[in-house]
Amino acid sequence: MNEQTETPNIFLVGPMGSGKSAVGRRLARDIRADFVDSDAVIEQRTGVEISYIFEKEGESGFRRREREMLDELTGLSGIVLATGGGSVLAPENRAYLAERGRVVYLRASIPQLLERTSHNRNRPLLANGNAEETLTELLEQRDPLYREIAEFCVDTDGRTVADVAVEIRRWLSDDAPAEECPANSAR
Ligand code: S3P
Repeated sequence: MNEQTETPNIFLVGPMGSGKSAVGRRLARDIRADFVDSDAVIEQRTGVEISYIFEKEGESGFRRREREMLDELTGLSGIVLATGGGSVLAPENRAYLAERGRVVYLRASIPQLLERTSHNRNRPLLANGNAEETLTELLEQRDPLYREIAEFCVDTDGRTVADVAVEIRRWLSDDAPAEECPANSAR
């Protein structure tokens, strides 16, 4: 991978629509690391979309695949990894992420998450029911888990992908210590 520059793994966590894939791709380009998107690799390996896996195997089938994928991908080096929004649910995933790289939590308000997820039909958890309620419940449940493993939190509301990537880069290059993230309760 990218051994010359000794780039540590950067793991992006956060809810659906927080910008993990877009920011991750940009950050990887900027720091010359490899970008990996765990959902995209699951789709490549299985040859089907995430929504199809949920339909055929249920959420538990998807979570099993996600755990195996995270174990494998966090074992790489010098990558920027965009994780799925629910990857922090499994304690073993939180351990892989916390122990094998630097975890950055991308945060966003519910209205932003709603807007950014509204055009994508490959998010099975938002396919039925009220998306705003679902996103709010998921964030309440998961925010403490994202914060548990994150060393750095970035607010992404109203900001460009490039701007968020620059903030993460600055944090990395400052060699700043881990920061406590304030709670991101539904806003
Ligand atoms: C999920 C988030 C999705 C995908 C799956 C489940 C979740 O990833 O892994 O639909 O539980 O929040 P993104 O966060 O990239 O949308």
